[in-house]
Amino acid sequence: MEQKKIIIDTDPGHDDAIAILLALASPELEVIGITCVAGNAPLHLTEVNALRICELAGRKDVKVFSGCDRPMVRKLVTAEEVHGETGLDGPDWEEPNMELQPQHAVDWLVETLLDAEDQSITICPVGPLTNLGMALVREPAIASKIQAIVTMGGGYFVGGNVTPAAEFNIFVDPHAADVVYRSGIPIVAMPLDVTHKALMTKEWINTLSELGTEVGIKSAQMLTFYNRFDLARYGMAGSPVHDPATIAYLIEPDLYTGKDVYVEIETRSNLTMGMTVVDYWGARRKDPNCHWVSEVDDAGFFRLMYDRLATL
Ligand code: BDR
Ligand code: CA
Repeated sequence: MEQKKIIIDTDPGHDDAIAILLALASPELEVIGITCVAGNAPLHLTEVNALRICELAGRKDVKVFSGCDRPMVRKLVTAEEVHGETGLDGPDWEEPNMELQPQHAVDWLVETLLDAEDQSITICPVGPLTNLGMALVREPAIASKIQAIVTMGGGYFVGGNVTPAAEFNIFVDPHAADVVYRSGIPIVAMPLDVTHKALMTKEWINTLSELGTEVGIKSAQMLTFYNRFDLARYGMAGSPVHDPATIAYLIEPDLYTGKDVYVEIETRSNLTMGMTVVDYWGARRKDPNCHWVSEVDDAGFFRLMYDRLATL
């Protein structure tokens, strides 16, 4: 099987952790590197969390890079109320033995992409887009090397989750998101519109725990912690688990349905900062720059995650 080469750009974060585990469990994908960014927690925590998750998956060979510790322009906003003080509260974690790669994530992205064949690498950003935005500013020639960007971020039909208008990843670094959405690289967006249609129940989390493996038990502990915030906020029977949608899309795209649209990022208004302004009905007659996903086979998504995590 020819593996798709991917880079996960991430701010772990519980749902980031599940996305990384799903990718490492999937033979269709070759994770050529993980780049870390500040977001759910400060960088010194997200980078350690990424190492923890690779070790949990038994994959100390994965290259993990530390990236930008703050957004391009704005002050860093973090999400301790969702992910806890460590960014990955829930399980008892030991200090990881694995070490970060010495190179800065942005330097590694530029170097790796410049060396690659055209359209040969897929980037999966599941945190603020700072690292990728910085790499594109530093070396625009990397754009032609990227096959696609499959990213979790934004919202249109369901609005935002950090302000009424903005989703967290875009809100934290709207200027980087603006660079990415103007880059001309094919983008697949997995926004809140789709992640809020696949709701994780306590019963499903229990099935992970019942696997009896370290991955199953720690994943269940992570998701139980993560679940509490959204269950309380939305009052639904389950809660969204956002970031693994990007990896699931790469493995089984038929689980998802979307539409090609033109998306712009709000970078000026304080009220709507970080809003993904989606021209869903083509009012501006602009060429689409994004495939905006809004429907999912939720049973298929949870089946895929369970089956793959069970292999680790
Ligand atoms: C996004 O924000 C973060 O808290 C999650 O990890 C996810 O990437 C959802 O808005
Ligand atoms: Ca994330």
